Amino acid sequence: MTPFSILLLPGDGIGPEVVAAAERVLRAVADRYHHQITFTTGVIGGAALKQGRPALPDETLVAARAADGILLGAVGDPSFDTAPPAQRPEAALLKIRRELGLYANLRPARVWPGLESAGPLKPEILKGTDLLMFRELTGGLYYGEPRGQSDDSAHNTMRYSRHEVERIARRAFEAARLRRRRVTSVDKANVLETSRLWRQVTTAVGKDYPDVTLDHMLVDTCAMKLTYAPSSFDVILTENMFGDILSDEAGAVVGSLGLLPSASLGDGVGLFEPVHGSAPDIAGKGIANPIGTIASAAMLLRYSLKLEDEAVSVEKAIETALIAGLRTADLAAGGASVSTTEMTERIVAAL
Ligand code: IPM
Ligand code: MG
Repeated sequence: MTPFSILLLPGDGIGPEVVAAAERVLRAVADRYHHQITFTTGVIGGAALKQGRPALPDETLVAARAADGILLGAVGDPSFDTAPPAQRPEAALLKIRRELGLYANLRPARVWPGLESAGPLKPEILKGTDLLMFRELTGGLYYGEPRGQSDDSAHNTMRYSRHEVERIARRAFEAARLRRRRVTSVDKANVLETSRLWRQVTTAVGKDYPDVTLDHMLVDTCAMKLTYAPSSFDVILTENMFGDILSDEAGAVVGSLGLLPSASLGDGVGLFEPVHGSAPDIAGKGIANPIGTIASAAMLLRYSLKLEDEAVSVEKAIETALIAGLRTADLAAGGASVSTTEMTERIVAAL
């Protein structure tokens, strides 16, 4: 049996801490289910820039293409805040997404058992929230040309092709079939041409999925509805920038951004990372919430290694730790909290 190979890209800030936590969980899964998994580590982001290398070294990209799955921590480092865009840690993330063709970014957000009151919303509003966001990840404003900045003005371009909308729409509808069969496509069709195309294409794709209900919602309405009726959503399908913003909001809604995992998928290797950033203010303190990254590792097991039972067992282990009352600082609301390591140990023990 050939071993699975996983590339770890710890990156910046709390990235190394949360990736180490998820690696422990993956090793425990390999042990328990008798899989062979080999781990290699690559550099990315500010960590690479600090070695005088590009934010995404070629060697990291080569290793990424060869891996069965990639687990990334976070990139971002305030010491590069004034650097030109291409020499910022974030450039690595944009490039690896593009180079690997990771056009579909899945960001599930749900209330974890035990955390019904952890967020800013009343538990009765949050109850039943379980949504899956499909964020388009390789198009839109993030990549559109022309782009540029001069002294007095700056410009970016939002551009989408039919093909780009269609391929992610299909994935969202397929996913909805395995859930509650409802897709909410989010756009700004009252103002933007790209959104009008988005609406036309998603409507056309929807005809191939008559068993799935499709509705269209403007992005401002969606932002509002996420706060007063989050449980009304099943699959949310949206473009890159809207998805970036709405997914942070979804994180706050379910209690903490630290809980949110993500999977970035294309036609080859997948990349898995927590939705949160590098959190430089708490880096190195051992208090980061590892759940977003551990849940991302579960998604890696599910989508890249096709190990569904193993993925579910990791998610159940997270639930067990939360039901037992363990809270990292972001979830503790000033009450008693546990360290990254304590949370991880409890999850490993529950496997
Ligand atoms: C995310 C992040 C990234 C993005 C940044 C770090 C470039 O916010 O993955 O949501 O905007 O895509
Ligand atoms: Mg973001």
